[in-house]
Amino acid sequence: MTMEQLTIKDIPQLNLENKKVLVRVDFNVPTEKKDNKIIITNDLRIRASLPTIQYLISAKAKITLVSHLGRPKGFDSDLKMDPVSERLSQLLGKKVIKLNDSIGPEIQTVINNLKAGEVCLLENIRFYKEEEKNDPDFARNLAKPFEIYVNDAFGTSHRAHASTAGVCAYLSPCLAGLLLQKEVDSLSKVLTTPVRPFTTILGGSKISSKIEVIKQLILKVDTLLVGGAMAFTFVKATGGKIGDSLFEEKFIPIIKEIDALKEEYAVAVVLPEDMVCVKKEDFEAKKANKELYIHPIDKIPDGYIGLDIGPKTCEKFVKMISQSKTLFWNGPMGMFEDHQFMGGTKAVAEALVDATKKRSTTVVGGGDSVSAIEDLKLSFDMFSHVSTGGGASIEFIEGKTLPGIACLDKKVSIKN
Ligand code: 3PG
Repeated sequence: MTMEQLTIKDIPQLNLENKKVLVRVDFNVPTEKKDNKIIITNDLRIRASLPTIQYLISAKAKITLVSHLGRPKGFDSDLKMDPVSERLSQLLGKKVIKLNDSIGPEIQTVINNLKAGEVCLLENIRFYKEEEKNDPDFARNLAKPFEIYVNDAFGTSHRAHASTAGVCAYLSPCLAGLLLQKEVDSLSKVLTTPVRPFTTILGGSKISSKIEVIKQLILKVDTLLVGGAMAFTFVKATGGKIGDSLFEEKFIPIIKEIDALKEEYAVAVVLPEDMVCVKKEDFEAKKANKELYIHPIDKIPDGYIGLDIGPKTCEKFVKMISQSKTLFWNGPMGMFEDHQFMGGTKAVAEALVDATKKRSTTVVGGGDSVSAIEDLKLSFDMFSHVSTGGGASIEFIEGKTLPGIACLDKKVSIKN
């Protein structure tokens, strides 16, 4: 299955030549401040949009990029787009014109004077509160200098904001960029036409944020491997002893619903057998090297906390991953930020790398799993697809309509 929206490659290149194109990108990259300078700590999202930008350069369009960075409340000098512009210039090997605003007559003048193939970047669009309110006047002003709209910001396409959705009322055509297309195609492929067996590995600390994902995936997968602290709520629901491990009482009734679905759709829901645990007092004292104890997940003594899947579970999960043809992974297996509890996440990530080498399809949902891949020094091309979307990939899998995609022109709408 491929996306039903028109992409930049669906229209003749000539229709892009000399056109003023507004491209919404998601350059919301992690940064840190060092010696009063803002440093980008991970440029995945900038690199991921290069194919779209390079394609538009080769088509001789006049390109203006717009993104948010962080969640500013008004202007914030630490969240200006300058470091992003510098990084993008290096990656493109050409100057990116950085503007200090995103709407208004001065911006319009610069955009009117752009030459074919030139690239400029507007200032952080969230410096205007109207952006997140999807204010129609603001969207109209933002759209004013342009002729064509391209959305390449998959990571922000679950937000109905002025630059992700509102502008579409004022520009035509509204097209998908190549990253947006790749994200939608990769996620749709695993969800709609997976080569079987199809296994999903879910982790993370909270089941509350993944309930809808589980309910959707259970209709589609053959096997669901559950790791991370969310497994404790499953174990608690069947009366297991989880010591002082994290769980969500309120969601125990939902586990019963999941159990019913699992029976109806004949899905194997596989929970960890054993966990790497520590004494609660060592955990709370944030000791650097804590003593580790392996306990069965349903027999963890009081005063102990499970923080990673144990060795028997790792072995079992790795085996099941190696027997699958399609794999989707979202969420770490333990508290991977602490190297003592990285083992389960490492085992799963490496098993997925091996599966990719054996030509299985492996898709990693964004957020913490992507951070874990980076911490493990694995590269993204070791997987079939690593999503740039955190919340967006979750909402996509939940089957929700993403406003930043729904507002784009559909292929059929041009044919008619
Ligand atoms: C993200 O990082 O998930 C996207 O850039 C969206 O950011 P937001 O959650 O601040 O809207």
